[in-house]
Amino acid sequence: MKHTRIAGVGHYVPERVVTNDDLSKIIDTNNEWIVERTGIHERRFIDPEKDTVANMAAKASRMAMERAGVDVKDIDFIVFATITSDYYFPGSGVLLQRELGLESIPAMDIKNACSGFIYALSTADQFIKTGMYKNVLVIGAEIQSSALDLTDKGRGTAVIFGDGAGAAVLQPRESEGILSTHLHSDGRFAEELYVKDPGGSRSNEERQPDQILDTSGFKVHMNGNLVFKHAVVRFMEVIQEALDANNMKKEDIDLLVPHQANLRISNYIQQKLELADDKVYNNIMRYGNTTAGSIPIALSEAWAEGKIKDGDLVCLAAFGSGFTWASALIRW
Ligand code: UT7
Repeated sequence: MKHTRIAGVGHYVPERVVTNDDLSKIIDTNNEWIVERTGIHERRFIDPEKDTVANMAAKASRMAMERAGVDVKDIDFIVFATITSDYYFPGSGVLLQRELGLESIPAMDIKNACSGFIYALSTADQFIKTGMYKNVLVIGAEIQSSALDLTDKGRGTAVIFGDGAGAAVLQPRESEGILSTHLHSDGRFAEELYVKDPGGSRSNEERQPDQILDTSGFKVHMNGNLVFKHAVVRFMEVIQEALDANNMKKEDIDLLVPHQANLRISNYIQQKLELADDKVYNNIMRYGNTTAGSIPIALSEAWAEGKIKDGDLVCLAAFGSGFTWASALIRW
């Protein structure tokens, strides 16, 4: 059985910066509230004329491939995590495959929201371990701005999300690399953080756009308080699970890269694990919560800033819609 290494990471965020003051001009909120409750100062929103989930992913992928020293023609599998794919179907994996000019390689979409990147990483890891694929592109990319309720009613949710894409190239290696991944879900809470429409197969009526009178179902709905309470518990559990599975202690972690949901959540985990400031990477201040994009964007920036070096023990953890939660422990 082979092991899997992350050979390169990359990211792309749209050019348009949206500050808290910008949001305060269109909804009843203010910079002070957003910074205090979330840690976010600004986020990126796409230019609809220019950015799509797939082309942002292509830019992130090219950076990851360059850093990995991998030629695009060597990519043999795409695992694409997004809940905001360009079309209702097909998924964005095939669009990325087309955009990169790749012929007939398999592409798979994973729809697990904030945990999506770790689910995708885990999926790719299994295919590499068994020897089936050798150069896998794992993507987390999201356009949340078009699904936000940017009215006063939606202010509790709209201020936290942003757009962006991250990518990783995974390859086999002889030992270590991805040490373990841990995936969980609890569908009892599906409606606590969701976009209801288009209604999928649940309702034929809802699939007839001319019959839709209430369009609020197309926007992100989140029971923020409840999500927060579950998040802090599950983050801790799943990180501990990863450490226990590898007979390691929290002191062994060189860098924790948590899904960027809320700086208060990251700070809480850091405090509980008693990790020094330089052992936890956060960039939510600049990008908000980019759902599946958040971990690979953070990994890419942390790597570029020299905060991840070969041999480091890197821990990833995420929690979000589903609910789903997950972790990965990686010897870089
Ligand atoms: O990534 C997937 C997982 N997602 C998460 O983990 C997100 C988890 N949840 C959260 O991060 C937080 O719940 C939020 C940041 C979304 C909200 O923060 P909160 O501290 O839970 O605020 P709240 O919803 O309890 O609202 C507190 C107050 C309310 O006013 P009253 O009732 O106390 O007078 C809200 O109306 O803040 C008010 N409020 C706002 N005020 C200004 C809510 N949103 C805003 C806003 N600007 N944007």
